[in-house]
Amino acid sequence: MNAPEQARPDDLAGKVAIIAGAGSRASGIGNGRAAAVLLAQSGMKVALVDSVAENMTETRELVEGAGGECLVLPADVSRVEDCEAVVAAVVDAWGGVDVLFNNVGIVGPSGSVVDVDLDAWDRCFDINVTSMVLMSRFVIPHMRKRGGGSIINTSSIAGVLGAHPSVIYSATKGAVTNLTRAMAAMHGPEGIRVNALVPGFLHTPMVHSQGLSEEDRVRRRNVAPVGAGGVEGSGWDVGELVRFLASDRARFISGTNIPVDGGLAAVIPMTDSMSVTAPVDGS
Ligand SMILES: NC(=O)c1ccc[n+]([C@@H]2O[C@H](COP(=O)([O-])OP(=O)(O)OC[C@H]3O[C@@H](n4cnc5c(N)ncnc54)[C@H](O)[C@@H]3O)[C@@H](O)[C@H]2O)c1
Repeated sequence: MNAPEQARPDDLAGKVAIIAGAGSRASGIGNGRAAAVLLAQSGMKVALVDSVAENMTETRELVEGAGGECLVLPADVSRVEDCEAVVAAVVDAWGGVDVLFNNVGIVGPSGSVVDVDLDAWDRCFDINVTSMVLMSRFVIPHMRKRGGGSIINTSSIAGVLGAHPSVIYSATKGAVTNLTRAMAAMHGPEGIRVNALVPGFLHTPMVHSQGLSEEDRVRRRNVAPVGAGGVEGSGWDVGELVRFLASDRARFISGTNIPVDGGLAAVIPMTDSMSVTAPVDGS
């Protein structure tokens, strides 16, 4: 019988992560902010990137409060020259890159294909999808020099299920899902793992800054099976998955789209009166 594998040590200390979308639009814990704090707590150097500089202030305070080291790099990751400059600054400061968390995403213009504004459609596609291509394009050559790395993309349950008031949001997040699989297939042989996380209804500043009523907050929580049990998803749930996927503990995990949704994607919306029970004789 083979000896059981040793538990893997936490290998993140001293490594370098870039987090695109490291800010949150209001006070509180967003997905990028939580990931920055947890990676820093594991000893990583974290480069914070966001197009709104002040959105990173609280992130920086939390990272430094946890004893972490960070760079604060305001940049619009839908712009090729900004992405190139960010990666150059990180490599200049810390010598390379091990982890890229592509977390930027906007809901974009509302509407169906009949009425969505096409200029806003293009802009949303650039921010939600092309930004991940651009950041990866400049990071991957440095990961190759290190012999590998981990890229984590933020999708959404709206990219797996279709219903969302904004057709562009579902379309772009669906693109992230398959971009992730395609990148994983292409870069796995280079030691680069690529995964996506798929948040459901989380209580983050993106949500609560829009004046969500307490009633709607509970409704959002309860729609997921685990939420109905009283657990409200937050940025920390995303951050924990990022920390795992960043580490060698996830060394054989690539090309996945992992839900962080309390079981929401497993639900078929059905009332008792809609269910059909199979006859006992199996006919
Ligand atoms: N909160 C949820 O319930 C939820 C659910 C599903 C998916 N998501 C996804 O999680 C991610 C982060 O969500 P959040 O709730 O923390 O949102 P957030 O809006 O608080 O944080 C996103 C950050 O990205 C930044 N950003 C936007 N465009 C940028 C650009 N072009 N360049 C650089 N930075 C830019 C914003 O300034 C903001 O600070 C998004 O991709 C979102 O689609 C969130």
